[in-house]
Amino acid sequence: MGSELKYLAALAITLAALLHSTAEQETHVVGDKFGWLVPPGGHYAYEVWAAGHKFSVGDILEFNFTTGDQDVAKVTKQAFDSCNSTSPIELKTTGPANFTLDTIGEYYFIGTKDRHCELGQNLAINVTAHSGTPTPSPSPKPSHTPRGPLTYVVGDQFGWIVPPGGELAYSAWAYGNTFYVGDTLGK
Ligand SMILES: *[C@@H]1O[C@H](CO)[C@@H](O)[C@H](O)[C@H]1NC(C)=O
Ligand SMILES: *[C@@H]1O[C@H](CO)[C@@H](O)[C@H](O)[C@H]1NC(C)=O
Ligand SMILES: *[C@@H]1O[C@H](CO)[C@@H](O)[C@H](O)[C@H]1NC(C)=O
Ligand SMILES: *[C@@H]1O[C@H](CO)[C@@H](O)[C@H](O)[C@H]1NC(C)=O
Repeated sequence: MGSELKYLAALAITLAALLHSTAEQETHVVGDKFGWLVPPGGHYAYEVWAAGHKFSVGDILEFNFTTGDQDVAKVTKQAFDSCNSTSPIELKTTGPANFTLDTIGEYYFIGTKDRHCELGQNLAINVTAHSGTPTPSPSPKPSHTPRGPLTYVVGDQFGWIVPPGGELAYSAWAYGNTFYVGDTLGK
């Protein structure tokens, strides 16, 4: 191949990869409309929020916060468990702040200001491989597939309790589910 051809081939491959990845990339706004803050009531809020989302390689995690009031640090599990912000993997102080989820595995984030982490401003997520198809379902389905009624357990594994994460907990849970007439809410 001539050098121009090689260059064009490489460019085509790069563009194809780029289009492929942007088409499937999803942006998750942490805490949805509540954003990234000290959740009233503690850490369950972001735990419940995370349980309602599926994080895939290539997705973006967007921490929406007011610069100066909050910050976000990507940390190790050890630092997450002890709210240790001494030497984070990465610290972002300007909001909104994005992190691209570029590898499979667990990601840990904390707020480093004052006692924000201790008070519940922390998030742990699992990032899985992209399935390659937009929805991992056994058969190709149109976007509005009729389905049988489902029973949702409100709050999933946390159940229906005085939400330790405050209002954010159930808002986040509801946001992660699509409800249809005929579905049952269990508790
Ligand atoms: C971030 O928060 C601001 C202020 O609450 C809000 O106006 C904006 O829509 C939020 N951005 C996203 C991406 O949710
Ligand atoms: C916090 O992390 C730093 C750096 O990893 C370490 O040197 C320090 O001992 C840790 N502090 C506590 C209280 O665990
Ligand atoms: C974060 O990602 C969102 C969605 O891709 C984008 O609209 C926004 O501009 C990004 N913000 C920053 C600060 O990079
Ligand atoms: C990630 O998934 C593994 C295996 O299912 C689980 O043991 C671990 O607790 C999860 N971590 C987080 C942060 O959710």
